[in-house]
Amino acid sequence: MTITVRDKSFVPFISAQAIQARIATLGEQITQDYADKNPLCIGILNGAFVFAADLVRAVACPLEISFLKYASYEKMQSSGKVKQLLGINENLEGRHIIIIEDIVDTGATMQQVRKDLKSAGASSVKLAALLFKPKAVRSDIHIDYLGFEIENRFVVGYGLDYDGAGRNLDAIYVIA
Ligand code: IMP
Repeated sequence: MTITVRDKSFVPFISAQAIQARIATLGEQITQDYADKNPLCIGILNGAFVFAADLVRAVACPLEISFLKYASYEKMQSSGKVKQLLGINENLEGRHIIIIEDIVDTGATMQQVRKDLKSAGASSVKLAALLFKPKAVRSDIHIDYLGFEIENRFVVGYGLDYDGAGRNLDAIYVIA
């Protein structure tokens, strides 16, 4: 079924059930890896708010969650430049951090986030990303907990937007 978001058509790509099944597996892995570490999960706003909410609820060990906000995307293209718009108040010294990101595209956002967190004294920084576009990535990014590797096409839904719209869709759609 084709849907319209603003002026563009999108078709179903990853179903809500497939997303939830994958998140259950990632949650089990994180539970095992962080059993005694009380990790601080940091969701990257706005896109990761849905994934972060579902992922942390799939993790059974104690954790904390906070959010950071950066900007690099305008309409359908990454500007390649990233700036931090909103910081976090937690002391990161000695903490085990899990960054939660909706999608790694050029990788510019992730490089900046990692740099910011390491310089704030984090003990370890790992990355959970729902989607990864390997063909778009310009930098060397390692994703520790990956949902799905996808082709280099524009997607919306499940937190991801097209010009601010479509974030509330419960599945992921790709441009038609
Ligand atoms: P990067 O810095 O180029 O890796 O861009 C990452 C950010 O761009 C993500 O957190 C998303 O907010 C946004 N983004 C990248 N690809 C898409 C897409 O296909 N649809 C919607 N947003 C995207």
